[in-house]
Order: sequence, then structure tokens, then C-alpha cells
Amino acid sequence: MAKTLAPVAVSFNKPKGGLNHANLQVNDVKTSFRILQQKSSAPVPPLDEDVRVVTAAEYKEAALCLAEAFAEDDVARYFIDVPDREHWSEEDKWNLHLEILEYVTYAHILKGLVTTVGEFGAVALWMPPGQNMDDFWTILRSGMWRLNYRLSAEGKRRFFNEFLPLLHDTKHAALGEHDDDSWYLVYIGTKPQARGKGYCRKLIEHVTKQADRDGRLVYLESSNPANPPIYRKFGFNDRRTVHLQRAEKNVELDIMIREPKGQEKGGKN
Ligand SMILES: CC(C)(COP(=O)(O)OP(=O)(O)OC[C@H]1O[C@@H](n2cnc3c(N)ncnc32)[C@H](O)[C@@H]1OP(=O)(O)O)[C@@H](O)C(=O)NCCC(=O)NCCS
Repeated sequence: MAKTLAPVAVSFNKPKGGLNHANLQVNDVKTSFRILQQKSSAPVPPLDEDVRVVTAAEYKEAALCLAEAFAEDDVARYFIDVPDREHWSEEDKWNLHLEILEYVTYAHILKGLVTTVGEFGAVALWMPPGQNMDDFWTILRSGMWRLNYRLSAEGKRRFFNEFLPLLHDTKHAALGEHDDDSWYLVYIGTKPQARGKGYCRKLIEHVTKQADRDGRLVYLESSNPANPPIYRKFGFNDRRTVHLQRAEKNVELDIMIREPKGQEKGGKN
């Protein structure tokens, strides 16, 4: 949310890895919905004393942090505050908001990198270079497939037909040939009571230091107009603004890219 639901780059397309996915056995199917102490195959930049990697057993705490951070976020609400769910109570909507973030967080634990500082005071979901969570098993095991049933008809149109393609196409257009070799900050959130303590800076710099060492770009979508000035402090530059247009209110996402320090590595405008 850098977003989603805040921006979550997920697709429910065909299984990329097929049934022979390298890391999975057929037996995993029946344990799909249990919490596994599985580590992501993604590389982890060196950790300092404050930042640590979130394990699968902790996905609910991490998701709760993000749910609180994004409780008022326009993009997160875009799929929930829909005309065909007007009859829902705020509690129903909160539960769905939290549930979505649990799926997304779990998928990033499986295939990306989830970090925290301040014991879930702040949480970041990263997709490292060359990784994605589009495969069948990750969608199955994270519970992401349930969105097909949990979102309303309009929520699904917004999520699957508008939001995911927009994010995918925008990222591809903005990063060009670097789309597959850049870091992607999918979500970062600090609980309201933990803000202003430098948590966001620690989580971002944990990865940007590694991106600098490797000469890689870092990409994000910002769902809150208050945030680009914060991201500029970390070296991100504005690239473009995209719009979600199915609600009465236009919802904007600012696309930002950080060049590796001391290097110019392109990325299209
Ligand atoms: C954006 C957010 C993650 C910042 O988290 P945080 O832990 O409070 O940020 P930090 O304390 O690490 O501050 C980082 C820098 O941003 C600045 N900053 C933080 N909040 C700010 C604000 N509201 N206005 C202006 N500057 C701000 C800090 O001064 C700091 O700069 P410095 O290191 O040069 O002093 C947090 O406000 C949040 O979770 N917001 C809601 C969810 C969200 O919008 N997430 C991002 C989606 S794109």
C-alpha cells in the first residue's frame, strides 16, 4: 500500500508452477490451511538489531498491525465500501478487511518477505526481485482464493477487473526491463500509536541498503496523499499517479521508484 488491499499484486490465473511446484509435495494439499513453519525462498537482507522477519506462526499479528494502519485507507476500503454491501455493519467490514490482510500477509510470508519492528508496531510486506505470489499453491495456501467468495459482486469487479490489472500494467510500464529484478514494497504500515518512532524508516532502510548494494530499483504505490513526502525522504521519486474510478470518489495511487544510491538504473516514465 504501498499497498493493497492496498495494492496487492496477485492474480488468480493459471498455476504457473503446475502441480510439480518445486517446493511442494502432493501431501501439502491437506495441510494447506494449517500454519506451517515454512520459510520463504526469498533472500533476506542482513537484519539489524531492530528489524526481524515475521514467521508463518505470526501472520495474524502482522496482519492485525496492517489492518489497524490501513483502517481508514481509501484503497483498502475500495473493495469493502461498495454499494452492494451497504447493509453490512462496520464490524462485518472490519472482519473482511482483516481477513484480506491475513491472506495477503500469509502469501508474502510464503513467497516474499515480511518484516516487523517494535513487535508488530510496524510491518512491511515486500516482494523481492524475481519473486511473485501468482502461483496456484500460494493462492491456495494463503487463502487468497477465498476472495472470490468473500467480496461482493462489485468488490470483485473492483479488485479483479480494475485494481489488479491496473497495478500489474502500471508496474510493468514504470519499471520496464527492471520489472522482474526490482524490490516491490507492497505494504507498509505502522500502528497509529506507534507512529513517529522511526519504525517505517527502519523497515524501508533494511531493504533499500540491500538494493543499493545490488544496484536495484525499489518500487511502491502510495495510497495516501500524505505519504509521498515521507517516501521522498528515503530517496523515492514520483513517477505517475493512477486512478481507481468505480467509486463515487476518485481514488488515487502515487507510483514511486527509488534508484539505487549513486547509480542511475533507468525505469521508464
Ligand atoms: C506512513 C507510515 C508508514 C509512517 O510510519 P512511521 O513509523 O510513523 O514513520 P517514521 O517514524 O519512520 O518516520 C519516517 C519519516 O517520515 C516522517 N513522517 C512520518 N509521518 C509523517 C507525517 N504524518 N507527516 C510528515 N512527515 C512524517 C518522519 O518525520 C520521518 O522523517 P525523518 O526520519 O527524516 O525524521 C504511517 O504513518 C502509516 O502506517 N500510515 C498509514 C498506512 C499507510 O499510509 N501506509 C503507507 C501506504 S503507501
